Amino acid sequence: MAAANPVARHYGSARIAERVLAAFHRQHGADAAVTVEGLAPLDQFHGRGVLATTELAALLRPRAGERLLDIGSGIGGPARWIAFKFACRVTGVDLTPEFCAAARALNAATGMTEQVTIIEGSALALPVPDSAFDAAYSQNVIMNIADKQLFYREAWRALRPGGRLALSNVCAGPEGEPYFPVPWAATGDTSFLATPQEMRADLVAAGFEIADFRDTTAALLQIQRQSRERLQSGEQLPPVAADIILGTRAREMQINSLRSTEDARTTSVEALVRKPA
Ligand SMILES: C[S@@+](CC[C@H](N)C(=O)[O-])C[C@H]1O[C@@H](n2cnc3c(N)ncnc32)[C@H](O)[C@@H]1O
Repeated sequence: MAAANPVARHYGSARIAERVLAAFHRQHGADAAVTVEGLAPLDQFHGRGVLATTELAALLRPRAGERLLDIGSGIGGPARWIAFKFACRVTGVDLTPEFCAAARALNAATGMTEQVTIIEGSALALPVPDSAFDAAYSQNVIMNIADKQLFYREAWRALRPGGRLALSNVCAGPEGEPYFPVPWAATGDTSFLATPQEMRADLVAAGFEIADFRDTTAALLQIQRQSRERLQSGEQLPPVAADIILGTRAREMQINSLRSTEDARTTSVEALVRKPA
């Protein structure tokens, strides 16, 4: 049955884990062991892939044994990567049932079920207790959220005093709406972009202290342009998470995403904020 929520309907499709694993085995051989690092090109569903996750983790600096929350965890790539690299425990919450099912199947395939737990639910009513996490992060999710202040208040509630929150987000650029469809939304009905200034103000209004706030648009453009050149050269590229998840829609969406960045209709931001101790 199709999901009732239009955001979940945009993302969801059948047999995602099977498609990810099939792509992995095509590249590495039928008998190859499925590892967190081996899956990384195929399970990180955001611009700049695992490179962006590594960068966000460098901002967040997870410590061994910490409890982390991944808000909008997708098919679980970032949660597995961070849990594996930093020996911490990650709880992922995501709205899209098919993504939660895929995340659980890929946790099992990589032996990460102890360290990574997936809960289906909304970022706007996080199904977790107050003050339960040392740190949280959210990668490329806030673009789908209309009520951003509620999103930040829920993240604040889930963190212990002194807890950190790292964010990557696509923000509104000065030159108007993105060119739709983009990977996070087929139309403007489920895309809600704030300007970087509005994002900062919403975080402060929710009670966070800003520790770092940076524009990552140039780094994203560089990677997007390299992929476009390779696509246009006719070179057969190995698939990435977006290709597997979005299927035949992926190429148009990725090109629109690049055009939107080039034409200053979107900008990219990374931030680290803290709940006061
Ligand atoms: C572009 S994907 C990013 C997934 C993941 N963070 C990653 O980087 O691989 C956006 C994700 O946000 C989730 N999402 C959007 N709105 C949500 C909400 N209100 N509550 C929970 N998850 C949400 C979607 O289901 C989707 O998994």
